[in-house]
Amino acid sequence: METNTPKRRDNKKSLRVKVISLGNAEVGKSCIIKRYCEKRFVPKYLATIGIDYGVTKVQVRDREIKVNIFDMAGHPFFYEVRNEFYKDSQGVLLVYDVGLRESFDALDSWLGEMKQEMGSQANMDSIVFIVCANKVSLVTRSRRVVDEGEGRLWAESRGFHYFETSAQSGEGINEMFQSFFSSITDMCENGGKRPVTEVSAGFTKEQADTIRRIRNSKDSWDMLGVKPGATREEVNKAYRKLAVLLHPDKCVAPGSEDAFKAVVNARTSLLKNIK
Ligand code: GTP
Ligand code: MG
Repeated sequence: METNTPKRRDNKKSLRVKVISLGNAEVGKSCIIKRYCEKRFVPKYLATIGIDYGVTKVQVRDREIKVNIFDMAGHPFFYEVRNEFYKDSQGVLLVYDVGLRESFDALDSWLGEMKQEMGSQANMDSIVFIVCANKVSLVTRSRRVVDEGEGRLWAESRGFHYFETSAQSGEGINEMFQSFFSSITDMCENGGKRPVTEVSAGFTKEQADTIRRIRNSKDSWDMLGVKPGATREEVNKAYRKLAVLLHPDKCVAPGSEDAFKAVVNARTSLLKNIK
């Protein structure tokens, strides 16, 4: 029977783990891995064909970890090749390009594809996920469209780690991998369960979902969650509910302060026009 528990070698202190990379084509998955393993960056895009495989050894505390890295191709064309490789992973690098919103929006469908192959949510719970907001270097800052708050909120509301990385400059890469391998080791030492303490977000899913909804709302009515033409009472009631949920004194979710301000402004502008 296949299990998620890593295989032990003779030496009690050594572990063998499997990690995979996921995310749209061209977001930089292969370059992140190359930057870490080979300390170099290749500017030319060489699409991964199906899957690339590599092994690296790392030391975490008193343990030697042998990491099998399966670098997946992001192109939809390779689904049939990829889907074989999801099972038995202990870690997932979920990568998006901060300059391409569709690569961020696609993270949910990457999780969906993985869940479908894993068979159940329970299997997904014993995996360490790291979200890499990639291509954050100074050079590319002007084309950034997904800010840190939004990325961090998406990751941390799911209990995932969040890192800003640049495979080009190397920024964040070592820190990200160190945290990744150390969390996987913690999980293995914790009987294959992802420890919750480390990334306990300190905010609720409702708060995270509300902030996301507010960010994506099309107008002030939509932001407050009332129908166009709602009465003053309805607007105030909706406002009070959101204010309690998102007040900066009570909500530590990334982006809560901006969301709270946006809600205050939406209420003010709506009330101005309601008799
Ligand atoms: P697939 O294998 O097709 O799924 O793509 P991938 O996600 O592995 O992308 P890859 O690592 O091949 O990188 C795609 C392109 O982005 C290449 O041209 C890289 O040079 C470039 N790239 C990757 N990381 C960075 C980065 O941090 N900054 C910048 N500016 N470019 C990057
Ligand atoms: Mg690749």
